[in-house]
Amino acid sequence: MSLPKSITTIALTGAIAISALALTANAEGHGANPAVAARQGHMQVMSLNLGILGNMARGNTEYDADIAQAAADNLVTMGAVNQRFYWPEGTDSESIEGTRALPAIWEDQASLMEIAMRYGPAAEGLSAAAGQGLDAMRAAIGPLGAVCGDCHESFQEER
Ligand code: HEC
Repeated sequence: MSLPKSITTIALTGAIAISALALTANAEGHGANPAVAARQGHMQVMSLNLGILGNMARGNTEYDADIAQAAADNLVTMGAVNQRFYWPEGTDSESIEGTRALPAIWEDQASLMEIAMRYGPAAEGLSAAAGQGLDAMRAAIGPLGAVCGDCHESFQEER
């Protein structure tokens, strides 16, 4: 039932491009830098998909194995994007407006990569569990949510 991976990837790339355009069009400096817009768009795509699963886990929406699987698979696909163009030097929150990316990203790449490397296995784990029932899906959200949270704690400026 699921679309070939290449089509999913094209659809996702389109979604990112569209959200990047929306951010660029949104004056006020937010996302005026295309790399910043792209990485924020990437984050938004992950957030949308994780949110669908989170809502099921909390009982806000009814568990649906197909939908859960699709969202988890999207999260795996996002992990396959090479992020090298997202984080050019000089796009930290102390250098430009419209970003919450802390300078630590460029100063402590080892810690950043340590967290980033956990994303793939956590997303794969979620994908393996997502279609196997609410309890299995719920248990597999935690590890991925922790990857998001740990990175934000160290590398994203607080609001
Ligand atoms: C390796 C580090 C890292 C990981 C892993 C990570 N994030 Fe982020 N996230 C960031 C940074 C840094 C920013 C700030 C980006 C900016 O403003 O330029 C951010 C910003 C965001 C934003 C705000 C985007 C916007 O429009 O300003 C959301 C939402 C978000 N992340 C969700 C997630 C979710 C959901 C996950 C896990 C599935 C995740 N992130 C994983 C580092 C990370």
